[in-house]
Amino acid sequence: MLNTSFVLPCGATLKNRLAKAAMTERLSNKDGKANQAIFNLYEQWINTNAGLLITGNVMIDSMHMESAGNVVIIDESGLPELKQWASMTQPGQHLWMQISHSGRQTSRFINFHPKAPSAVQLKRLGLFGRPKTMSEEDIEKVISGFVKAASLAKKAGFDGIQIHAAHGYLLNQFLSPRTNLRTDQWGGSLENRSRLLRRIVQECRSALGNEFPIGVKLNSADFQRGGFDEKDSLQIVKMLEEEKVDLLEISGGTYEKLAFFIMNEENQKESTKRREAYFLDFAQKVRQISSLPLMITGGVRTYDFCESVLKANDVDIIGMARPFITNCNHISAFLEGKKESLDNLVIRTGIKQIEDSAEGGFYARQLFRMAKQKSIKLDYHPISNTLFLIKTEFVKGMAKRFG
Ligand SMILES: Cc1cc2nc3c(=O)[nH]c(=O)nc-3n(C[C@H](O)[C@H](O)[C@H](O)COP(=O)(O)O)c2cc1C
Repeated sequence: MLNTSFVLPCGATLKNRLAKAAMTERLSNKDGKANQAIFNLYEQWINTNAGLLITGNVMIDSMHMESAGNVVIIDESGLPELKQWASMTQPGQHLWMQISHSGRQTSRFINFHPKAPSAVQLKRLGLFGRPKTMSEEDIEKVISGFVKAASLAKKAGFDGIQIHAAHGYLLNQFLSPRTNLRTDQWGGSLENRSRLLRRIVQECRSALGNEFPIGVKLNSADFQRGGFDEKDSLQIVKMLEEEKVDLLEISGGTYEKLAFFIMNEENQKESTKRREAYFLDFAQKVRQISSLPLMITGGVRTYDFCESVLKANDVDIIGMARPFITNCNHISAFLEGKKESLDNLVIRTGIKQIEDSAEGGFYARQLFRMAKQKSIKLDYHPISNTLFLIKTEFVKGMAKRFG
């Protein structure tokens, strides 16, 4: 099943059921353009034969970036580099651009007072400033920013887009009652909290046409008391189905609780260990209420598991991220059933506050190595991974602001 094609509602065909999920590259320079380092990285991912490659966060606003090394699209100035990126794929292989705005999850290195649905500050290692509440005009600018980036992705030759509404970034902040305290048409009821996401999907669809793939990455839950929960998420799924989204990717967590790393730990629930994928239970609930094409990402590592969930029709597409770093050279064999399982490493410092950044930093370092066409290196000290991440963001952030 893994190596069979899948037709999306818009009519486009994915040549197999394996997707490289988004991983922020952090490789762009202060101009925010795609560059040779990114092309070197994607050459390796293209050679995996995965049917779908989703880029890391591409931002619509240089003051609201998930990382100071993200690609940014504001106008056509980076179009030649985007065209080069999009032209790299093999025949039939899809490259989709993940489009995003970081809202309050923008570090102080980029913006001391980022804009967000409400002034609810993210408290993590002092890295995030108190956000300013977005005005109506700011919100309309976000909508036009998403549409502009999506239109340029299509113009450059990308095969689809994914709207990032998960992991605590801006669209997730609007969806969550913890971070959205608004009392206007953008806050309160779920109908209002989801208005921004729905408007973006609708306006992207009218700009891109009915035959262009549009995906959405959505949290099953934020795993925070009073946050966006499964009940909310199932309602959003129904709304997205009405908007004719082509592929829904299920994930979970925010910077306050990075579920996709934490659930990797030894102390995860027995039931999660048994079924491998972190969000499979939720995917099964989605299947009961909707026929939206479904992709799950998080924890999937064995060929047998992929085959069994695809055969059971629990999901349509399998997403993986970290194995595309640790096992990049084995993915094409995995697709053909010649490699039974892939690994990922659990990087721990023993210091609760920095576990996520130690793991994120480890993988970020490997991406930098891959971009230089070096092999991966396993023996970095976990604390140095955290420091690497902070230093990279500081250096790139300063270069962007003052360089
Ligand atoms: C280094 C790294 C960067 C990531 N960047 C992004 C990103 O830009 N956008 C996104 O939606 N998810 C991002 N993720 C999350 C992955 O897409 C995925 O949801 C998560 O790693 C769980 O999948 P896995 O267990 O197969 O790694 C990132 C993960 C890693 C390890």
